[in-house]
Amino acid sequence: MPATQPTDTADHSAAADRRSDTVSPPDADVLKRPLRLGNITIKNRIAKSAMSEILGSPSHAPTPEHVQLYRTWAEGGVGLAITGNVMIDRRALGEPRNVVIEDDRDLEALRAWAKAGTANDTHLWMQLNHPGKQTPAFLVKETVSPSAVGFGPELAKAFATPRALTETEIEDLIDRFGTAAAVAKEAGFTGVQIHGAHGYLVSQFLSPHHNRRDDRWGGSLENRARFVLTVYSAIRDRVGPDFPVGIKINSADFQKGGFTEDESLQVIQWLADAGMDLIEVSGGTYEAQAMVGAYQKESTRRREGYFLEFMERIRQHVEVPLMVTGGFRSAAGMAAPVRDGAVDMVGLARTLCIDPTLPARVLDGQPAKAELPRLTTGSKTLDRYAALDVTWYENQLARIGAGKPPNPELGAWRSMVTSFSKQGCQAFQLRRAK
Ligand SMILES: Cc1cc2nc3c(=O)[nH]c(=O)nc-3n(C[C@H](O)[C@H](O)[C@H](O)COP(=O)(O)O)c2cc1C
Repeated sequence: MPATQPTDTADHSAAADRRSDTVSPPDADVLKRPLRLGNITIKNRIAKSAMSEILGSPSHAPTPEHVQLYRTWAEGGVGLAITGNVMIDRRALGEPRNVVIEDDRDLEALRAWAKAGTANDTHLWMQLNHPGKQTPAFLVKETVSPSAVGFGPELAKAFATPRALTETEIEDLIDRFGTAAAVAKEAGFTGVQIHGAHGYLVSQFLSPHHNRRDDRWGGSLENRARFVLTVYSAIRDRVGPDFPVGIKINSADFQKGGFTEDESLQVIQWLADAGMDLIEVSGGTYEAQAMVGAYQKESTRRREGYFLEFMERIRQHVEVPLMVTGGFRSAAGMAAPVRDGAVDMVGLARTLCIDPTLPARVLDGQPAKAELPRLTTGSKTLDRYAALDVTWYENQLARIGAGKPPNPELGAWRSMVTSFSKQGCQAFQLRRAK
């Protein structure tokens, strides 16, 4: 669908909104404005960004915990909720208990999830992913990637050196993205998002470090971007022109020899021209965890929002609706880049694990701010081994999914024990920060 095409007289499109920002309205008013994307309207500017729930059934179907979790977020006021990454191939999982879609076998469970997550006039988009080489070795027989490039010494034990994909396999994976999107649409999800960030397969294709191919899928930026653009076309062919399709993409990989800001700007322009409806920006890979603030600058600390300078830069070049995720904690922090026109939506992740109703209070003009806890067992090695910065939040998601309130007081040791009792040693494989 064309990026912004208002169909009524009240033009809430992203571009029109930016044109009309001449006064400085209060934070809640800025964030309360509806956002028009093509012919759909998102009721406000706050999104719940993707967080892997790891609440799937042993056969990788959605469960009642997904239903409860997304109903809670829908009632908590976000305009758009994006699911945690749903895998398109059960041979390639990012985590145990991922949801996988290869066909319509779990349609009823998906329908229940979609129904709960679209309550309260909320949009619910499914994030689609293939992890490529970022598949923990304990989960699969072999891992695949554009090229057989292994990990550095820190991650090499947990993640195997991948096998390079064949041309036929690449085409099969593209087709799988299309199939999963079609099933999501049939189940009642109101859009899909390609996970093109954080070092997973799409991001591996974009990166000159991970992608050393010399065929039409590697080499020049044009060739490296062919995978994501073809995935987009395959999805668009299956869901039709009016169904929202978005992407989460890295501003940069923050990794030597990786995808750069200049390259990201060019790919964003191509994606916008292709008709992408919403482009969410993040950054980093498992080897360089920029997505959770590892490379935060001093200016970022003052302004919230890890990738705002890049957003301001790309806003000069594209009209496509933009969203940014990473670092937002307060109403003022969220409203500032929307008011300035640098972005059209802001995404929240960890704050919504401990305070799922924060958006409603922010939109109500209440002085709401979330603080993330400092998590440590006292030993940096143990914290890292236990993937505490991820598993602690997963435990909060499990609580909400079970109908309990989050527990911001949950201690690091207690969180570790809980993860161990649920997943055994698998909980503590050096995994990721998504
Ligand atoms: C437990 C957890 C799971 C995550 N899973 C995903 C995921 O499936 N897909 C994705 O794009 N990002 C994922 N992320 C990253 C978040 O979407 C977000 O980019 C990051 O947490 C920074 O935003 P924040 O500062 O608001 O938390 C995850 C983060 C956490 C903490």
